[in-house]
Amino acid sequence: MAGTRGRGGSRPKVTVVGAGMVGGTVAQMLALRDYADIVLVDIVEGMPQGKALDLLQVGPIVGYDTQLTGTNGYDETVDSDVVVITSGIARKPGMSRDDLLRTNMGIVRSVTQQVVEKSPEAIIIVVSNPLDAMCHAAFDVAGFPRERVIGMAGVLDAARFRTFIAMELDVSVEDVTGFVLGGHGDTMVPLSRYSTVSGIPITELLPPDRIKALEERTANGGAEIVGLLKTGSAYYAPGTSVVEMVDAILLDKRRVLPASVLLQGEYGISDTFVGVPIKVGAEGMEKIFEITLTSDEAAALAKSAASVQDLVAAMARLAAES
Ligand SMILES: NC(=O)c1ccc[n+]([C@@H]2O[C@H](COP(=O)([O-])OP(=O)(O)OC[C@H]3O[C@@H](n4cnc5c(N)ncnc54)[C@H](O)[C@@H]3O)[C@@H](O)[C@H]2O)c1
Repeated sequence: MAGTRGRGGSRPKVTVVGAGMVGGTVAQMLALRDYADIVLVDIVEGMPQGKALDLLQVGPIVGYDTQLTGTNGYDETVDSDVVVITSGIARKPGMSRDDLLRTNMGIVRSVTQQVVEKSPEAIIIVVSNPLDAMCHAAFDVAGFPRERVIGMAGVLDAARFRTFIAMELDVSVEDVTGFVLGGHGDTMVPLSRYSTVSGIPITELLPPDRIKALEERTANGGAEIVGLLKTGSAYYAPGTSVVEMVDAILLDKRRVLPASVLLQGEYGISDTFVGVPIKVGAEGMEKIFEITLTSDEAAALAKSAASVQDLVAAMARLAAES
């Protein structure tokens, strides 16, 4: 396909590490796009192979020629153009936040190391939680320029905000844009004045108390789904959000999307991964858009960055202990 970034084979190669719920959804949604070949990696024997074979058998039904390979190793990932990291564990009952941070930090670090050995030119999209901290873990090990380590959270958070705005106004989601900044989770900063319905700011269409309710529902969007599912977290919208970013890179679309990137002075924040609007194209993060914030918005973003910095400090402490 013209405009794609593939090396070696005729199609670009995307590796998805962690073939669980999010990883499997990424593979499924990307396979449907029919322009890239996909390698699914997991530590569970047979599972990535089984999912890859199952998805291959969708090909004749819907008409895609996407090649899918499942593996428990990294040889098959060689020369990937994009690597999506979704490996990790969910917090289990009785597990402290530190335990979860230590475990997922270990997983993301080891996965990244193995990935970059095989694909030194790849662009890494981090999905594992806690998202912004895991971006730091991957970035530290990868030794890549900041343009090639990007965290996915903002596309999902914005999609949730857009969904709730469309539901509230009873309009098509197609006409709704949502603008979010900051860390993933409860420190997310929705910017309602830049969220629109066909260009009309929602502040013109909804009273402040309704907007606040939609913002709060968005910030708790992940927890709301966990509460309903009870045995896991969201994966359809997260997986599809990742594919929007993969499209932007491999089709060199230069989309303007919110994503977690390493700020180096932008927004007055340094050496911290935090969600901001960026241009996403063949080179990964190609530009950071810096907009003027109100003092409340700037304070909320600074708070978000501080909570990421706390996790980074905790990771350094946990690494020193082990
Ligand atoms: N950034 C976001 O917006 C967002 C959204 C949803 C989920 N997430 C996060 O994505 C991650 C995956 O979620 P999920 O629902 O798919 O979980 P899941 O448990 O279904 O899948 C995780 C997979 O990672 C695998 N894994 C563990 N250690 C591994 C290793 N060392 N190498 C390779 N694979 C390994 C597991 O075997 C499992 O199959 C979680 O950390 C979750 O919190 C992030």
